Amino acid sequence: MPEIAYVNGRFLPLANATVHVEDRGYQFADAVYEVIRTYGGGPFALDEHLERLWHSMEAIDLRHSLTREQVGGLVREAVRRAGFAETMVYLQVSRGVARRHRGIPAEAAPVLVLTARELPDSSPLRAQGITCVTVPDNRWGRCDIKSVGLLANVMAYTAARQAGANDAIFVEADGTVNEATAGNIFLVTGNVVATPVRGPKLLAGVTRAKILAAAAAMGWRPEERRVIRSELFAADEIFLTSTTAEAVPVLAVDGRPIGTGRPGPVTARLYDQFGKMFVGSPRVVA
Ligand code: PDD
Repeated sequence: MPEIAYVNGRFLPLANATVHVEDRGYQFADAVYEVIRTYGGGPFALDEHLERLWHSMEAIDLRHSLTREQVGGLVREAVRRAGFAETMVYLQVSRGVARRHRGIPAEAAPVLVLTARELPDSSPLRAQGITCVTVPDNRWGRCDIKSVGLLANVMAYTAARQAGANDAIFVEADGTVNEATAGNIFLVTGNVVATPVRGPKLLAGVTRAKILAAAAAMGWRPEERRVIRSELFAADEIFLTSTTAEAVPVLAVDGRPIGTGRPGPVTARLYDQFGKMFVGSPRVVA
């Protein structure tokens, strides 16, 4: 099955896909993106991803001539052409190609890039769980924009790996917990399922919203509020959510076990409920 790409108007093998060296995404991280997955071969939560893409584009004043329907159509076509059992689509819109200058060029046409590869199997992660370290949140103040400027995330992830952990959790100097390097964070304490409140310091995850709804449907108390670092160590369970990993148990933070130190029952039941409510059983997209 081919890994494929779409670059400004045409599909081609991923290995042959290139962009200009003066693309502003390349030189200034002047670009935004989405990661979309399929269930049962169909794109999942496409409307929500396109909604967020438009939020990101509007936030940086980037206007693309394509409509949401057209971009959605490209995602579907990429999935169809790639032909994998399950696909991960990366979609990026950059400001376009222009002579290097920080001023926004009037003449540049946005460049839409899309890649379709086989979805990696995240079930071992979910079964085994992961460990995390906390790191200072030194990212910029607009983490609600899904910007390709991810150097702080790259460095935090690298620090976690060097410390022998799987991922890092961004924490502000006053103890406020925001999110992990590529996922939102949830704490289960008693019957409360808490996650940091939406705002400029974290990405409003598509999975996050669905897990909150799943928690409510199961009779747990979902809470979107400020979470502080010390609460992590008092939680019964912690898990991270993202499109590709869905809900992954966190077994330890900064070397301290969370709850029993094993994947927790609430995380497993929420994952199950998420599947029943939004994916269908067996996991086939609506
Ligand atoms: N990451 N927070 C950050 C910083 C993220 O990068 C992501 C997703 C999320 C979760 O969002 P969602 O549930 O909509 O996938 C939260 C994607 C998968 C990535 O960059 O690969």
